[in-house]
Parts: sequence; structure tokens; C-alpha cells
Amino acid sequence: MAFFRALNTLGVTRVRDFSDPFAAQLLPPSVGRVVQGAQWLLEGRQGLGQRWWVASRGLIDTVALRSRAIDTAWGEAYRLGVRQLVILGAGLDARAYRLDLLQGVHVFEVDHPATQQFKRARAASLRSPAESLRYVPVDFAHDDLGNALRDAGLRTDERAFVIWEGVTMYLPHRAVEETLSKLSKLVPPGSRLAMTYLEPATRRHEPLIRRNLRRWILSRSGEPQLGLMRREHATRLLEGVRFRALSDENRVEFAARFSDESAEETAGALGERMVVAEKV
Ligand SMILES: C[S@@+](CC[C@H](N)C(=O)[O-])C[C@H]1O[C@@H](n2cnc3c(N)ncnc32)[C@H](O)[C@@H]1O
Repeated sequence: MAFFRALNTLGVTRVRDFSDPFAAQLLPPSVGRVVQGAQWLLEGRQGLGQRWWVASRGLIDTVALRSRAIDTAWGEAYRLGVRQLVILGAGLDARAYRLDLLQGVHVFEVDHPATQQFKRARAASLRSPAESLRYVPVDFAHDDLGNALRDAGLRTDERAFVIWEGVTMYLPHRAVEETLSKLSKLVPPGSRLAMTYLEPATRRHEPLIRRNLRRWILSRSGEPQLGLMRREHATRLLEGVRFRALSDENRVEFAARFSDESAEETAGALGERMVVAEKV
């Protein structure tokens, strides 16, 4: 995901106002060198980035689109006075460093211990403008999210904005349900969750070139997709743990807000949705 953010930051994107200046630094050095190679290729070759975009059938923009949607939802929560930001399955997410609205904010990055160890090493030289940044190692499949976040200093009497981006599809349904249930017991009403999930049916319409690219990426990441779910399933799941959906959008809807791409160019790329839900 960070590779795509780095590529998008080089200008290979149609998403407006997207930039993640820390993505390249957080990448493993070998992948960082691929980004440097891409930068070298792009310099002085007009139209090359556009050709890559077309060849990927828009896949290159998937992460930037959802990032913009989530950042916008965070901006709304911040303006409503929320000052706790919890990032579940943070991976190489650089929000703790790059978001504009972090003044007075306590950020909690939750991730699998192995991934987090790597991230911390890569981010060692970065400084977050947030009030505080805590790393919370948690395996969603085995550990108690509630205890871990409480121990890390999350105030359970203050609202939180929780991001769960690009993770649910890699977890068994049971782990998704249990994590949501623990989360619901942890945060007070008015807290919000921005969660992305992948619908299964769209795969049937996926163009061959993108299917192969997606499979290659997944084989490189070593994370099989397990927890695909339909919109109704996601809504029911959230309602069952007292979260009411405020919005639930797909790629076409994100693109209408944040990008210049047309639905025809990315037909079949509707798989990932993002629901913003509020604890009632
Ligand atoms: C595809 S990455 C997404 C990272 C980040 N949210 C983003 O969008 O760039 C999936 C993340 O889920 C985390 N993850 C997967 N299974 C997990 C588990 N059982 N417990 C905790 N984290 C997990 C991985 O460590 C990784 O950081």
C-alpha cells in the first residue's frame, strides 16, 4: 500500500490533492529502490505515468482514493472535537506524520507485532506533530484489543476516531467480528469508525491485466484475502455492535469526490468500500 502511495506522490495518479511524502521512506529499502527507479523513468518522459495508470486500469489509485476519503472523514471528526485517533492495522500508514489536523491529538497505532517492529525501525527518524503517538502491538486474531489500548492510555470516556483501512479482507470473519465487538465496548457514543472492506462479487468483472497485477501484489505481501463481505453483511455487523453507518461508499463515489477518473475507465474496480459509522 505504501508503494502505491509513494508512486502516487510521484504524480502517477488522478486523485486530486493526494501526497504522502513519508511513504517512500517507510518502505523496505529494496522496494524504495523500485520507487527511485520509477522516479528516474518518469523524469523527462511525458505521459509515462499516465500510461501506467491506464495499464493498471486505475488500480494504482485505489489506495490514494480511500486515503483521501478517510482523511476527509478524520477532518470532520476533528472539527467535531475528537482528539483521539486510533489506526488499526496501521502498516506503513504515515498519518501520524502527514495529517494536517493533529494538534492536541493522541494517536494510537495498532498493528501486528512483527509489522509494527519493522514500521518503528523505518519511522525512527520521523517526528509526529501530534500531542502523542503510541505504538500498540496487537494480533487481532489472538490478543485483547481493549486491554492493549487501555494500557496504552486510550481514554474510554472520550470520543475516538478509529481507522481500519485495508485490513478486514485479510482477517477471518470471526476476528473482524471480535475486533469490532471489543472496539464497541471501548469507545463512547459519538466515536466514529472508518472501515474499508472488500465485496466478493466484483471480481467476476475484473479485467485480466488488473487481476494479474492484484494477484502479484497479494503474493508479494503474503496476506491471503479471507474476510470478503457484502455491504448488507458489513451494515449488520456494525449494527450488531451499536455502530450506525453514516456513509458507505464505493470507488466510483470516492472518485467523484476526489479524482478525475471516469467510471468507464475503471469498470470492475468497485470492490473496496469504505463505511463511516458512529457509535450510538
Ligand atoms: C494491507 S496492510 C494495510 C496497512 C495500512 N492500513 C494501509 O492501508 O496502508 C494490512 C495490515 O493489516 C495488519 N494485519 C493483518 N493481520 C493482522 C492481525 N491478525 N493482527 C493485527 N494486524 C494485522 C498487517 O500487519 C498490515 O499492517
